[in-house]
Amino acid sequence: MGIMAVLILPLLVVVISGVLYIYRTVTQLMSKSVVRSKVVVITDALSGVGKECSRVFHAGGARLVLCGKHLEKLETLYDALNSVADPSATFTPKLVLLDLSDVNCIQDVAKEILDCYGCVDILINNASTKVKGTVQNISLEIDKKIMDANYFGPITLTKALLPNMLSRRTGQIILVNNIQGKLGVPFRAAYAASKHAALGFFDCLRAELQEFGVCVSTVAPSFIHSYDTQPLPEPHPQPNKVESSVWKYLSRKLAYGVRPAEVAEEILRTVNRKKQEVFLANPIAKAAVYIRTFFPELFFAVVAAGVKEKQKIEDEK
Ligand SMILES: NC(=O)c1ccc[n+]([C@@H]2O[C@H](COP(=O)([O-])OP(=O)(O)OC[C@H]3O[C@@H](n4cnc5c(N)ncnc54)[C@H](OP(=O)(O)O)[C@@H]3O)[C@@H](O)[C@H]2O)c1
Repeated sequence: MGIMAVLILPLLVVVISGVLYIYRTVTQLMSKSVVRSKVVVITDALSGVGKECSRVFHAGGARLVLCGKHLEKLETLYDALNSVADPSATFTPKLVLLDLSDVNCIQDVAKEILDCYGCVDILINNASTKVKGTVQNISLEIDKKIMDANYFGPITLTKALLPNMLSRRTGQIILVNNIQGKLGVPFRAAYAASKHAALGFFDCLRAELQEFGVCVSTVAPSFIHSYDTQPLPEPHPQPNKVESSVWKYLSRKLAYGVRPAEVAEEILRTVNRKKQEVFLANPIAKAAVYIRTFFPELFFAVVAAGVKEKQKIEDEK
């Protein structure tokens, strides 16, 4: 009886871990089979997330249309994907040059995309431009460029590909957004505004398309670590050092991010389960979104205090 009592806990841990492992493996395999032969368009396949999505969907047997601003870089990605793939289980990707801020050319690019396979099953709106600075220091011209790349570009491409999805009564549109599409972070006004606009647009579109069998999903990470940066450990305050402000604590937590490969796997799961909205963030960042919604004055006070503190530090330099 005594030995049984001692053994039961480790046994339970082993059994639960085994079940979880099998569950994850089966769902991963199922996700991959869901995209087999599907025509998947990735806008900006060259960013960290874009490359990882290309790898994951290519390995899953999707027929990829890889879009980006630089043909040479697209060709390098093409070679890399083909060199590791099993030719009997994968399709060679098609490459399409696309600059989303060149809104007037997007209709032609959409035609080129449709000409690749005659249809689009999954559109991953991933490309995006960022800018950092105070509102006074960012010119209106840059504000407009950001809106073109992050809002008008993706919605123009989506509108151009939509008739094809509607006529086939099937399709999935993914917007890779940012938690800044839900809350405004100081010194990123143009980027946050473009991400808010895109989120609003795709939320409305989701409701409009439901009856036509076309699914709209948004995936919002808080922060993505590219591979050339060291992985950040979960931030811990220094021993015996109390955080100097709530904002400092919050901004450190918001900055705790995920790897592009994790975002790509999550996008694959989102496609598989037809999830509508996904946040890839730690609980503090998620809590910030809820605080912004239910206690806006508290959120604004914390953010304003953070800006004041930053200005004080800069004045002291
Ligand atoms: N990085 C983060 O911390 C973070 C956090 C949350 C969400 N996200 C979102 O995740 C997605 C991918 O982010 P990422 O970090 O992997 O990429 P990233 O480092 O932000 O790079 C953006 C990519 O988009 C391309 N791009 C910019 N403007 C474009 C345009 N007008 N047309 C076509 N391509 C354009 C860039 O190409 P060039 O370099 O040649 O300009 C670059 O390859 C984006 O939607 C981003 O907003 C990022």
